[in-house]
Amino acid sequence: MIAIISDLHSNEEALKAVLKDINDFNVEEIHCLGDIVNYGPDPNAVIHLLIKHRVKSIMGNHDYSVIDPVNGYSMISPAMQDSLNYTLDVLEEPSREYLQSLTWARSDEKGYFVHCCPPDRLRGHIREYIEDYTFKTLIESTHQPLCFVGHSHQEMIYTERPSDDPDYTRIHGNQTPQKKTDTSYRNSTYTAGDHFLDPSIRYIINVGSVGFHKNGSPHASYCLFDPKSNRLIYRHVRYDLEGLLDKLKSLDLTSDIERFVAKYLPIDKLWAV
Ligand SMILES: [Fe+2]
Repeated sequence: MIAIISDLHSNEEALKAVLKDINDFNVEEIHCLGDIVNYGPDPNAVIHLLIKHRVKSIMGNHDYSVIDPVNGYSMISPAMQDSLNYTLDVLEEPSREYLQSLTWARSDEKGYFVHCCPPDRLRGHIREYIEDYTFKTLIESTHQPLCFVGHSHQEMIYTERPSDDPDYTRIHGNQTPQKKTDTSYRNSTYTAGDHFLDPSIRYIINVGSVGFHKNGSPHASYCLFDPKSNRLIYRHVRYDLEGLLDKLKSLDLTSDIERFVAKYLPIDKLWAV
């Protein structure tokens, strides 16, 4: 069993909870698909946890924004440049060196791992790339039957279909939080998807986001995959979101970051009774 996490975005509380949940399964290795930093308050603590747990990481566009002082600002949304400035202010040199050491993609016997889109794109949305270039073109660039991506912060499974237009379909994604009106889920950690993948078919899998999951729930999202049984599981992990929000407030970060958090972690709006 492997775990695939992505888009941690300096959210220590969420990563700690996810690592604790991973510990409940027979996980041999953890892969991270990048966007380790920006938005959240704790880039150094998140990187320390990745090193401590021997996580195999690759680079995301936000990580690139930190290590390239010339082109960095062009790698993220103009509205989020205050977040980059905060990260640059607090990032320790060993953390910067860690981000600089990351590659843009990795391929091994478990599959292909890239932040946004194969073979090595850091920006843009996989859905648009599939429509522009076709599923077949993208998956064949990996030379693998399985490709894991992050970046969009939204869970999705794309799979090939024999027809030409379109040559893909979705079997997971665009979901509202499970039983959103059932408040018992609000404070629970639960399995949000359980799929047995067909070994004769190819897949591109978006694993969601640990730090800022865009489904309107107070959960971190990640995937477990068992290469022996071809079983793929999405986990939604409740973490100390309130602690994260308190930390953000105490740091007196800019209104841009507050607006981002309010947009993607609308805990009181979507989960109110
Ligand atoms: Fe991200």
